[in-house]
Amino acid sequence: MRAIIQHRYGGFERLEYREDVAEPRPRRGEVAIAVAAASVNPADRFRVSGVPRLGRLAFGWFRPRVPGLGMDVAGTVVSLGPGVTRFAVGDEVYGETLGSFAEVVCAREDRVAARPRGLTMPEAAALPLAGMTALQAMRAGRARAGAHVLILGASGGVGHLAIQIARALDAEVTAVCSERNVGLVRSLGAHHAIDYTRDDFTAHSTRYDAILDLVGTTPIGRCVAHLSERGVYLASVGRTGWILRAALRSLVSRRVKVLAAISCASDLDALRELVDAGAVRPVIDRRFALEGVPDALRYSATERTRGKSVIEITAPRRARASLGSPIESEADPRAARR
Ligand SMILES: NC(=O)c1ccc[n+]([C@@H]2O[C@H](COP(=O)([O-])OP(=O)(O)OC[C@H]3O[C@@H](n4cnc5c(N)ncnc54)[C@H](OP(=O)(O)O)[C@@H]3O)[C@@H](O)[C@H]2O)c1
Repeated sequence: MRAIIQHRYGGFERLEYREDVAEPRPRRGEVAIAVAAASVNPADRFRVSGVPRLGRLAFGWFRPRVPGLGMDVAGTVVSLGPGVTRFAVGDEVYGETLGSFAEVVCAREDRVAARPRGLTMPEAAALPLAGMTALQAMRAGRARAGAHVLILGASGGVGHLAIQIARALDAEVTAVCSERNVGLVRSLGAHHAIDYTRDDFTAHSTRYDAILDLVGTTPIGRCVAHLSERGVYLASVGRTGWILRAALRSLVSRRVKVLAAISCASDLDALRELVDAGAVRPVIDRRFALEGVPDALRYSATERTRGKSVIEITAPRRARASLGSPIESEADPRAARR
């Protein structure tokens, strides 16, 4: 099968596009999925580089334990490992696993769920990791009617879903983004948008019941100073130093929490229900073919992604030729409303 393979940590040039990779066989409790689409997360970049080094505790200290890359998947179940009870061959599913930048990947059955029928496969693939992070963040932040939530990094993969989930929970939402994304975050339901290139939310007296930090540029102490009496600061920032600082503070303050998304089928079910109810829809920024994974990761590294970028695995070869280096983003407010 075709797959993206990584044997050593380093730059994106170390990634190999191969057409001769053996198809994985599902082990006990796993399903094998023919991948229709995968999506790109900052964690994929960390896996390629092995930085932050903390991640190597999970991925392998000297070299990646598993050579596959890619974490989000949407596709069709093609075979079952022993003991699988929740799925049958032919089921269309989405979820999280390792190695989804490939034509076939195996996943634990408790980390996949029926895919939302109202989404395309690429849209479904955009949802798992970012959606579960956003959902768990909004729970930890007790987003509800009467609560005011501030999202730093609101136009990215996690942020644009957090806006929609917070709105579904009836919270008031302030989105922090740059000027070009103000229209996008408003179209997704944010009540207020703050352009961080011109304004600083800490310069105002507004207090928030939850601050979800996805970028790590405003000192944690300043964020905490802008919390309401029972407010909470939630750190989901892919930088070891920031997470360590937040973790240390969380030991002495219940108002600071570090988020580590936990992958589970029940949250995938919850996300599907939000999609079915019309409350959540991922925004696709750019689409890449499997061969274009290094380009997709380079784009992710700009930290300018609007919504999510996706990898289309089963796109016909003819169409794939145009998926390598997309010129236009789909993530403009008009596209988001469609
Ligand atoms: N805890 C977990 O399990 C978990 C899971 C997933 C993700 N994460 C972490 O969560 C963070 C966000 O992930 P993501 O997938 O949403 O990232 P992403 O899609 O790469 O985020 C890109 C967005 O960040 C915005 N941005 C950049 N600098 C900003 C700033 N100073 N203020 C406000 N917005 C800014 C950009 O908007 P502009 O172009 O407008 O600046 C862009 O839309 C990452 O650090 C990731 O590692 C953690």
